[in-house]
Amino acid sequence: MKTIVLVGFMGAGKSAVGQALAQTLGQTFYDLDELVEAELGMPIAAYFADFGEAAFRQREHAVLQKALSLPGVIATGGGIITQKANRDLLQQQQGVVYLKGQVDLLIQRIRQDRQNVRPLAVERNDEELAALFFSRESFYLTSSQIVVATDHQSVDAIVKKILQEVAQ
Ligand code: S3P
Repeated sequence: MKTIVLVGFMGAGKSAVGQALAQTLGQTFYDLDELVEAELGMPIAAYFADFGEAAFRQREHAVLQKALSLPGVIATGGGIITQKANRDLLQQQQGVVYLKGQVDLLIQRIRQDRQNVRPLAVERNDEELAALFFSRESFYLTSSQIVVATDHQSVDAIVKKILQEVAQ
Protein backbone atom coordinates (compact mmCIF):
# COMPACT_ATOMS: atom_id res chain seq x y z
CA MET A 1 0.00 0.00 0.00
CA LYS A 2 1.20 3.49 -0.71
CA THR A 3 1.65 5.91 2.15
CA ILE A 4 -1.28 8.24 2.75
CA VAL A 5 -0.38 11.70 4.03
CA LEU A 6 -2.98 14.02 5.53
CA VAL A 7 -2.47 17.78 5.33
CA GLY A 8 -4.71 20.61 6.43
CA PHE A 9 -5.05 23.49 8.85
CA MET A 10 -5.06 23.07 12.63
CA GLY A 11 -8.40 21.68 13.76
CA ALA A 12 -9.12 19.86 10.47
CA GLY A 13 -9.18 16.48 12.23
CA LYS A 14 -5.98 15.11 10.68
CA SER A 15 -5.05 13.02 13.73
CA ALA A 16 -8.53 11.60 14.40
CA VAL A 17 -9.11 10.80 10.73
CA GLY A 18 -5.58 9.44 10.30
CA GLN A 19 -5.97 7.08 13.24
CA ALA A 20 -9.33 5.78 11.98
CA LEU A 21 -8.05 5.46 8.42
CA ALA A 22 -4.97 3.51 9.52
CA GLN A 23 -7.13 1.21 11.61
CA THR A 24 -9.48 0.54 8.69
CA LEU A 25 -6.53 -0.26 6.45
CA GLY A 26 -4.69 -2.33 9.08
CA GLN A 27 -1.77 0.06 8.67
CA THR A 28 0.44 1.95 11.11
CA PHE A 29 -0.55 5.50 12.03
CA TYR A 30 2.11 8.19 12.45
CA ASP A 31 1.32 11.56 14.00
CA LEU A 32 4.08 13.85 12.79
CA ASP A 33 3.67 16.26 15.72
CA GLU A 34 4.25 13.34 18.09
CA LEU A 35 7.28 12.14 16.13
CA VAL A 36 8.68 15.69 16.22
CA GLU A 37 8.06 15.96 19.97
CA ALA A 38 9.89 12.67 20.50
CA GLU A 39 12.86 14.09 18.53
CA LEU A 40 12.77 17.40 20.39
CA GLY A 41 12.37 15.77 23.77
CA MET A 42 9.80 18.40 24.73
CA PRO A 43 6.33 19.60 23.79
CA ILE A 44 6.07 21.67 20.59
CA ALA A 45 4.76 24.71 22.52
CA ALA A 46 7.82 24.66 24.80
CA TYR A 47 10.16 24.30 21.82
CA PHE A 48 8.52 27.27 20.09
CA ALA A 49 8.94 29.33 23.25
CA ASP A 50 12.61 28.40 23.69
CA PHE A 51 13.90 28.22 20.10
CA GLY A 52 11.28 29.83 17.84
CA GLU A 53 9.31 28.72 14.81
CA ALA A 54 12.20 28.64 12.31
CA ALA A 55 14.13 26.09 14.41
CA PHE A 56 10.95 24.04 14.78
CA ARG A 57 10.41 24.02 11.00
CA GLN A 58 13.91 22.63 10.43
CA ARG A 59 13.35 19.79 12.86
CA GLU A 60 9.87 19.16 11.42
CA HIS A 61 11.32 18.92 7.90
CA ALA A 62 13.86 16.29 8.93
CA VAL A 63 11.14 14.21 10.63
CA LEU A 64 8.83 14.49 7.60
CA GLN A 65 11.56 13.34 5.25
CA LYS A 66 12.16 10.23 7.37
CA ALA A 67 8.45 9.50 7.90
CA LEU A 68 7.61 9.59 4.19
CA SER A 69 9.63 6.44 3.63
CA LEU A 70 7.40 4.51 6.05
CA PRO A 71 4.35 2.67 4.74
CA GLY A 72 1.21 3.74 6.60
CA VAL A 73 -0.88 6.81 7.31
CA ILE A 74 0.80 10.07 8.35
CA ALA A 75 -1.00 13.06 9.88
CA THR A 76 1.14 16.16 9.44
CA GLY A 77 1.14 19.41 11.42
CA GLY A 78 -0.88 22.26 9.93
CA GLY A 79 2.19 24.31 9.05
CA ILE A 80 4.01 21.61 7.09
CA ILE A 81 3.18 23.25 3.77
CA THR A 82 4.73 26.60 4.77
CA GLN A 83 8.18 25.25 3.83
CA LYS A 84 9.08 24.91 0.16
CA ALA A 85 11.27 21.89 0.90
CA ASN A 86 8.24 20.14 2.44
CA ARG A 87 5.96 21.09 -0.45
CA ASP A 88 8.54 19.62 -2.84
CA LEU A 89 8.59 16.37 -0.86
CA LEU A 90 4.78 16.19 -0.76
CA GLN A 91 4.48 16.88 -4.48
CA GLN A 92 6.63 13.81 -5.12
CA GLN A 93 4.27 11.64 -3.06
CA GLN A 94 1.09 10.06 -4.42
CA GLY A 95 -1.46 9.82 -1.65
CA VAL A 96 -1.50 13.33 -0.19
CA VAL A 97 -4.98 14.26 1.03
CA TYR A 98 -6.02 17.80 1.97
CA LEU A 99 -8.66 17.77 4.70
CA LYS A 100 -10.42 20.98 3.81
CA GLY A 101 -12.51 22.78 6.40
CA GLN A 102 -14.32 26.09 6.49
CA VAL A 103 -12.22 28.63 8.33
CA ASP A 104 -14.83 29.61 10.96
CA LEU A 105 -15.46 25.97 11.90
CA LEU A 106 -11.73 25.28 12.09
CA ILE A 107 -11.22 28.24 14.41
CA GLN A 108 -14.11 27.08 16.59
CA ARG A 109 -12.52 23.64 16.92
CA ILE A 110 -9.07 25.06 17.64
CA ARG A 111 -10.49 27.26 20.41
CA GLN A 112 -12.44 24.37 21.94
CA ASP A 113 -9.45 22.02 21.99
CA ARG A 114 -8.05 22.18 25.53
CA GLN A 115 -5.62 19.27 25.06
CA ASN A 116 -3.59 20.49 22.13
CA VAL A 117 -1.67 23.70 22.85
CA ARG A 118 -0.96 25.33 19.50
CA PRO A 119 1.45 28.25 19.90
CA LEU A 120 0.47 29.88 16.59
CA ALA A 121 -3.21 29.86 17.61
CA VAL A 122 -2.64 31.06 21.18
CA GLU A 123 -0.83 34.17 20.02
CA ARG A 124 -3.50 35.16 17.44
CA ASN A 125 -7.05 36.45 17.67
CA ASP A 126 -9.69 34.89 15.39
CA GLU A 127 -9.15 37.41 12.62
CA GLU A 128 -5.41 36.81 12.62
CA LEU A 129 -5.92 33.06 12.69
CA ALA A 130 -8.25 33.30 9.67
CA ALA A 131 -5.58 35.35 7.88
CA LEU A 132 -3.04 32.59 8.63
CA PHE A 133 -5.45 30.04 7.12
CA PHE A 134 -5.94 32.08 3.95
CA SER A 135 -2.19 32.64 3.57
CA ARG A 136 -1.74 28.86 3.54
CA GLU A 137 -4.75 27.65 1.61
CA SER A 138 -3.18 27.59 -1.86
CA PHE A 139 -0.25 25.60 -0.48
CA TYR A 140 -2.55 22.88 0.88
CA LEU A 141 -4.11 22.64 -2.57
CA THR A 142 -0.86 22.55 -4.54
CA SER A 143 0.71 20.03 -2.14
CA SER A 144 -2.11 17.47 -2.39
CA GLN A 145 -3.69 15.34 -5.10
CA ILE A 146 -6.97 14.69 -3.27
CA VAL A 147 -9.22 17.21 -1.51
CA VAL A 148 -11.82 15.99 0.98
CA ALA A 149 -14.29 18.38 2.61
CA THR A 150 -14.64 17.79 6.34
CA ASP A 151 -17.35 20.25 7.45
CA HIS A 152 -20.21 18.56 9.31
CA GLN A 153 -18.85 15.11 8.35
CA SER A 154 -18.19 12.29 10.80
CA VAL A 155 -14.71 10.78 11.02
CA ASP A 156 -16.09 7.56 9.48
CA ALA A 157 -17.64 9.43 6.55
CA ILE A 158 -14.35 11.23 5.90
CA VAL A 159 -12.44 7.93 6.04
CA LYS A 160 -14.86 6.39 3.52
CA LYS A 161 -14.46 9.33 1.20
CA ILE A 162 -10.66 9.14 1.36
CA LEU A 163 -10.72 5.42 0.61
CA GLN A 164 -12.95 6.02 -2.43
CA GLU A 165 -10.69 8.76 -3.73
CA VAL A 166 -7.44 6.89 -3.10
CA ALA A 167 -8.75 3.78 -4.87
CA GLN A 168 -9.35 5.73 -8.09
C1 S3P B 1 1.12 24.14 13.51
C2 S3P B 1 0.22 23.12 13.72
C3 S3P B 1 0.36 22.13 14.79
C4 S3P B 1 1.83 21.96 15.20
C5 S3P B 1 2.46 23.29 15.49
C6 S3P B 1 2.39 24.25 14.31
C7 S3P B 1 0.87 25.12 12.43
O1 S3P B 1 -0.16 20.86 14.35
O2 S3P B 1 2.58 21.31 14.19
O3 S3P B 1 1.79 23.84 16.60
O4 S3P B 1 1.81 25.85 12.05
O5 S3P B 1 -0.27 25.13 11.89
P1 S3P B 1 -1.76 20.56 14.19
O6 S3P B 1 -2.16 21.00 12.83
O7 S3P B 1 -1.82 19.08 14.36
O8 S3P B 1 -2.45 21.31 15.27
